[in-house]
Amino acid sequence: MKTLRFGIIGCGMMGREFASAAARWFHLPDTSVRPEIVAICHRTLSANNDNWFKNNIPTIKQITSDYRELLDNRNVESVYISVPHNLHREFYCAALKAGKHLMGEKPFGIDKKANDAIMAGIGRHPDLFVRCSSQFMFFPAAQRIGQMIETEAFGRIIEVNAGFLHCSDLNPAKPIDWKRMVEFNGEYGCMGDLGPHVCAVPFRAGWIPLNVRAVLSNIMPERPDGKGGTVPCETPDNATLLCEARDSRSGDIFPLTLRTQRISPGQTNNWYIEVLGTKACAKFSTNNANVLEILEYTGGEQRWQKINMGQEVPFKSITHSISQFGFSDAVLQMWAGFLYEFDKGKPYTRFSGCVTPKETTLWHRLFTAALKSHKTGTTVGLE
Ligand SMILES: NC(=O)c1ccc[n+]([C@@H]2O[C@H](COP(=O)([O-])OP(=O)(O)OC[C@H]3O[C@@H](n4cnc5c(N)ncnc54)[C@H](O)[C@@H]3O)[C@@H](O)[C@H]2O)c1
Repeated sequence: MKTLRFGIIGCGMMGREFASAAARWFHLPDTSVRPEIVAICHRTLSANNDNWFKNNIPTIKQITSDYRELLDNRNVESVYISVPHNLHREFYCAALKAGKHLMGEKPFGIDKKANDAIMAGIGRHPDLFVRCSSQFMFFPAAQRIGQMIETEAFGRIIEVNAGFLHCSDLNPAKPIDWKRMVEFNGEYGCMGDLGPHVCAVPFRAGWIPLNVRAVLSNIMPERPDGKGGTVPCETPDNATLLCEARDSRSGDIFPLTLRTQRISPGQTNNWYIEVLGTKACAKFSTNNANVLEILEYTGGEQRWQKINMGQEVPFKSITHSISQFGFSDAVLQMWAGFLYEFDKGKPYTRFSGCVTPKETTLWHRLFTAALKSHKTGTTVGLE
């Protein structure tokens, strides 16, 4: 099997998920290339975090707190960069300049200007393979919805509703972190953090927002600073975007509602999508991660059916086909999608390729228009 040697820059939650996925690559018996992690970088070296990586991944030869040192490492062929949004532009552009293939994290730049700069960097290095992480599309039910889109099983699209609901910020005593600060997370707030995941399936389907009316809520405008005081919390907690979208295939226009909420009582990590069409409808939520609900309309009685999806995955896994699927499985499948496309030059299927840089630009056009819509109280076209 071929190997692609990786450096990880940013060893937080997602850096660890990738490390874990790479460590169990033998879970996917049919892949032709595997990731090998040879270097890691994070802001503050700490025995606790470093030992977790060192003890679990013996191939790591370099640990540094300076990303430039990692990028200078000739043994590193590709990087996964998972750092706060204010650093995306600088780090992604430097990685491309250093000749490294890149899996970046969403939102691929703190704002549209940063995304434009990253896109320009990609344009200067067409030989490098660049994708963005978003794993929810790899859940079996989302894959099945993708197949239904491919085969035009939905008929004319009536409407699509997608969202990502958290409740991590309902507690007003929770101290502020970088994801609530404009300086690090950006003005988009919850849209930049959660919105890319919500857009993944609709955008891949070719359902393109033409305009947006956005309602953004800053429910807790201040938070504890963790040092006994309080600080302003200026990013929106929740956002509802109502878009007029065009189906690129048929040209039909339909309503597309995208919801991102950090304060959604009762939720933990609920990514959902609902597609309503004239011939079929489908609903999926990670709250019920094994179940896809489908209604197929053939003229008779309208019946919602529930299908237990098991491991219906694009990249064959050793887990038995009837067994349930979870978050870390989606991360593993997403990485298999990255490496497959890197190796073969095209995705295995349309919905099993990772988010493309071009798709990230559409996120930024949408979230920038949404900010303007909220400020002006009007519907704003995407520029
Ligand atoms: N795909 C997903 O489901 C998902 C989930 C969470 C976060 N994310 C994205 O991942 C990225 C990181 O988020 P996170 O939740 O892992 O954050 P985190 O705070 O858990 O980790 C951030 C990491 O960046 C490192 N870092 C910060 N400044 C650095 C610097 N100057 N040099 C080197 N390293 C530095 C920190 O040391 C830390 O290891 C963001 O873009 C976020 O949107 C994606």
